[in-house]
Amino acid sequence: MMHAFERFGLLINDRIVRTPVGIASMAGIVDAAYVLERAAHIGFAFIGGYSIDAPTMAAAKAIAAGGNRKEFLYEDPVQELRAQIALFEKSDVVPGINLRGSLPDSFSSLAKALGDSVIYEIDAHCRQPAMVNAGCGEYYLNNPDKLVAVVRALKGEGVTVSVKMRVGVADDDRALAAALWKAGADILHIDLMDAGSAKLRQIRNSCPLLIIANNSITGFDRMKEMLQHGADLVSLARHSDERTLAGLDAAITRYADEEGWYNAPKQICRGGDIRGLAFCCMPVKECPLIPTLSRIGLPREDYIRLKLDAVRGTPLEHGSQTCFGSLAFCCKNSSPCMFRNMTLKQHNISPKEYMRLKRDLSETIMSRVFP
Ligand SMILES: Cc1cc2nc3c(=O)[nH]c(=O)nc-3n(C[C@H](O)[C@H](O)[C@H](O)COP(=O)(O)O)c2cc1C
Ligand code: SF4
Ligand code: SF4
Repeated sequence: MMHAFERFGLLINDRIVRTPVGIASMAGIVDAAYVLERAAHIGFAFIGGYSIDAPTMAAAKAIAAGGNRKEFLYEDPVQELRAQIALFEKSDVVPGINLRGSLPDSFSSLAKALGDSVIYEIDAHCRQPAMVNAGCGEYYLNNPDKLVAVVRALKGEGVTVSVKMRVGVADDDRALAAALWKAGADILHIDLMDAGSAKLRQIRNSCPLLIIANNSITGFDRMKEMLQHGADLVSLARHSDERTLAGLDAAITRYADEEGWYNAPKQICRGGDIRGLAFCCMPVKECPLIPTLSRIGLPREDYIRLKLDAVRGTPLEHGSQTCFGSLAFCCKNSSPCMFRNMTLKQHNISPKEYMRLKRDLSETIMSRVFP
């Protein structure tokens, strides 16, 4: 597992995530048994959705009775979830539980009963009318204060919190992401519908949370597009068959081993998110760096100092023959450059190591932009 940490650097709920590919919940279908059958190919999974209080349990019964959709039905959610969670004990899949509840208290009392071994995912996604009328699922996206209250209640119990949301429902997805970050959420699990990577980039640029991108991730090209625009992980629901999961796991593992930074952003001028500042030059010409700096409120001199301070004492400090005297301001290794490559060679830095160091630099930049 240490090898996986070196490869992806992913830690959730104090556990190493073996691969950034996981399973998203499907009510009545994705339980622990479903996940364990696919455990060899995934790093994390959200089982559920599980209804956890009287209004949502009644909604689940009504939906199941309608005959078109499956639901998990039980009399005692604590007992059911305890049994499900116990099944993960010997697995290295990082488990999460996707929950439908109508009040902050429903979530916090569940967390009190079950403890902190799982990620608590608030279902702010479901659009079944019975669930929305019960005050959960998409209801939360239209009532962000209530969603924030649930996040706060769960964080009060000291557990790791994910919010499963669909884009294009809340008034402003960026403002919602920022509010959830400030309320203490750890993960945004985002169903992008058909919104595309520009939407993902906007959310990435609004908060420093771990982002799981979801919807129609069926091949490596789409997965890579998500990772290049701000996602840390991807999840699959409808296509969470062994073959697809195994293919994505193998492809991203190979890619990470070759490239060094598995979710490296594009450069800012090529549509990258703000992590791409790690590849930006000195601000000496009119290019997208300038409006990006003013949007995030980082004066040019602070940007220069931030990068120089961040690389001091690291191999990125070298680069007297490069455009700006330091590898801190050098481009992504996909942009060919003789001067950068000469410097890397001189100091025995492999291209993969160069990208890892840029990843460290981007983390420092992100923590400065989102203190
Ligand atoms: C049958 C079914 C049940 C679902 N149940 C839930 C649920 O309980 N909670 C939730 O957050 N999302 C639920 N989803 C949404 C999925 O997790 C996922 O966001 C969506 O299907 C898009 O991803 P995909 O293209 O990988 O399927 C469900 C989806 C399906 C198809
Ligand atoms: S500073 Fe360089 S890498 Fe950054 S946006 Fe401008 S041209 Fe692109
Ligand atoms: S030396 Fe090459 S890699 Fe570095 S900033 Fe100049 S063009 Fe980019």
